[in-house]
Amino acid sequence: MKDYIKNLTMKIDETLVEGLESDNGVLEAAIHYALSVKGKRLRPLLFLTLIDAYNMNPLAYMDIACAIECIHTYSLIHDDLPAMDNDDFRRGMPTVHKKFNEAIALLAGDTLLTYAFERIARAKVPPEKVVSILRILTGGIGKDGMAGGQVLDLEFAGNKDVIFKIHRMKTARLISATLLSAAEIVGMSSQEKEILAEAGITIGIGFQMADDLLDIEGDEKEVGKKLHKDQDNKSPNSVLYYGRDFIIKEIDTAYNKTLALLEQLNIDFPPFLYLMEKMVYRSK
Ligand code: IPE
Ligand code: IPE
Ligand code: MG
Ligand code: MG
Ligand code: MG
Repeated sequence: MKDYIKNLTMKIDETLVEGLESDNGVLEAAIHYALSVKGKRLRPLLFLTLIDAYNMNPLAYMDIACAIECIHTYSLIHDDLPAMDNDDFRRGMPTVHKKFNEAIALLAGDTLLTYAFERIARAKVPPEKVVSILRILTGGIGKDGMAGGQVLDLEFAGNKDVIFKIHRMKTARLISATLLSAAEIVGMSSQEKEILAEAGITIGIGFQMADDLLDIEGDEKEVGKKLHKDQDNKSPNSVLYYGRDFIIKEIDTAYNKTLALLEQLNIDFPPFLYLMEKMVYRSK
C-alpha cells in the first residue's frame, strides 16, 4: 500500500509541473518553484484514491487532482505572505516571497488559482460534471470557505468559540470539496454526498487540529516550516486555547466519526482509509 501511495504521489508530482519551464520568466519560475517543492499532496491523493475506491481509473482524472493541488498551493503562498502569517519557510524551503518577492508571490498565487480552473475546464470529463466540480470547489474556497476563513483567522481576537468555525472554513471546506469532486466523478447519490461532505468536514477539522499540534510540539525539520509561530501571530491555534489533552481527544473523536461515516458509505479501500489516518496522525 505504501508503494501504491508513493507511485501515485510520483505521478502527481510529474503531472503538476508538466509544461512549466523554470526558465520561462519569473512568474513561471515562481510557479514551478512552488509546485516542485514537495508537499504531502494529500488533497490530490484523497481525490484519486476515492475514485479508485469505486473501481474507476484515477489516472484519467489527473487534471482535476492537479488543479486541486494548485489551489492548495496558491493558498499556502498567500498564507505565508508578510500581510498574513509572515513565514519564511514552507515545505523545508524558503517561501515564494522570500525566494522571489512579495509581488511575484501574490501573482504566482493568482496565476495558480486561475490555472487550476483552466485545467479543470480542460479535463476529459463530461461537461455537466465539470460544472458541478467547479461549483463545489469554488464554494469551498470562496467567501464562505477558505478565503472567508482566512479572513476570520487574521481577525481572530482570542475568542475561542470561533476557532472550529475558522478551521472548518479555512481548511475543512477545501478538503470536503475535494472528496465531493470525486463523488461527482464516481456518481454518488445526493444522500451519499451529504454523508461524504460531513466526513470531509470532520477529517478536515481534525487535520487542522493536527497542524495546530505540530506548531506546538512538532519537529521543525520534519514539518518543514518554522514552528511555535501561532502564539506570536495570535493565530487561532486550537491547542493554545483548548489545551493539548482536549485537542488530542478531539482528534481521536474526529477520526472515529469519519470512519463511521465512511462505513455508512461502504468505503473500505485501504489506501483511502490510510490517508484518512495520515490526515490526523502525522509528524509532518
Ligand atoms: C498546510 O497544508 C495548511 C493547512 C491547511 C494546515 P498541508 O499540511 O497539506 O501542506 P503541504 O501541502 O503538505 O505542504
Ligand atoms: C492555513 O492554516 C490554512 C490555509 C488555508 C492555507 P495555517 O496558517 O495554520 O497553515 P500553516 O501552518 O501555515 O501551514
Ligand atoms: Mg494561516
Ligand atoms: Mg500559516
Ligand atoms: Mg498552522
